[in-house]
Amino acid sequence: MKILVTGSKGQLGRELTRQSKDFGFEVLAADLPELDITDLIQVEDMVEKSQASLVINAAAYTNVDRAETEQELAFAVNTTGPANLAVSCAKVDIPLIQISTDFVFDGKKGTPYIETDPVSPLSVYGKSKADGDNKVRSKAKKHIILRTSWLYGLYGQNFVKTMLRLGNEKESIKVVADQFGSPTSATDLAETLLAIADKIQNSSTVNWGTYHYCGHGVTTWHGFAEKIFEIARKYESIKITNVKPVTTSEYSTKAKRPSFSALDCSLIKKYFEITPEPWQKSLEIIINQIYSDKRRMK
Ligand SMILES: NC(=O)c1ccc[n+]([C@@H]2O[C@H](COP(=O)([O-])OP(=O)(O)OC[C@H]3O[C@@H](n4cnc5c(N)ncnc54)[C@H](OP(=O)(O)O)[C@@H]3O)[C@@H](O)[C@H]2O)c1
Repeated sequence: MKILVTGSKGQLGRELTRQSKDFGFEVLAADLPELDITDLIQVEDMVEKSQASLVINAAAYTNVDRAETEQELAFAVNTTGPANLAVSCAKVDIPLIQISTDFVFDGKKGTPYIETDPVSPLSVYGKSKADGDNKVRSKAKKHIILRTSWLYGLYGQNFVKTMLRLGNEKESIKVVADQFGSPTSATDLAETLLAIADKIQNSSTVNWGTYHYCGHGVTTWHGFAEKIFEIARKYESIKITNVKPVTTSEYSTKAKRPSFSALDCSLIKKYFEITPEPWQKSLEIIINQIYSDKRRMK
């Protein structure tokens, strides 16, 4: 099966491209500047000419704070982009897998969100993603929307890589300890998406719709940071000695974030037999790979 992966240079896009061979898929990897998902003509042309049997949209505007001041661009990429892909996929009757986010929720529920919980985004980024999801639902019957959270991996910039860098630069840092969520490895997420693609290819009926997938378990950004340093110390002695817990109000950011955005992943288990690994286990694997890559580069 041939899969068109958009946003192929991002942290998830690169993982999808890397792992596709393990599933026996051929991948057509597309990103800016060859493919701008905000341009309907370009998208229609690429989807049609690629002769792909499925599209996975890993392209997005992901800078949550900058989106507050770049609203137009955030909505173009996160709402118009998925709409263009949905229209183009429907036209040639192929499915679209769209990636979404826990930031579509306001965090007030207090227990893990299920797929049918009402969305109420607090930020421009969250609103642009929620609107993109609605476009996909209305324009492409054959769709999977997979919401995930706190994504990190080997490629690109993310919280894990920032912490590993700061851990060697500073003795003390402040990390928010009153926002709760579930860290998700881009390696695990890509494997999940490709397993869904495999199911789509091999099943006569597919339960199209919205699903949740994130690392198993809940922590805070502070708990996540502490675990990163605990694992990193197995590989090198790091400078940092004090990871100070602070409240959201003490650590001001442009965009508001949900205080509790853990996702309930029962539905993906029921329909796709996919069970997320504990977030700590996946984190160990990624950090091990980061240090192995470092050693190889020396
Ligand atoms: N990162 C997280 O913590 C997180 C959490 C929950 C959900 N998600 C979702 O997971 C998905 C993957 O996220 P990620 O972290 O892998 O994102 P990422 O690393 O920022 O990658 C996104 C890719 O899309 C590209 N892109 C931007 N605008 C485009 C356009 N108009 N046309 C085509 N490509 C474009 C980006 O290129 P440039 O770099 O050149 O802009 C980048 O290569 C997204 O849907 C995101 O919303 C992410």
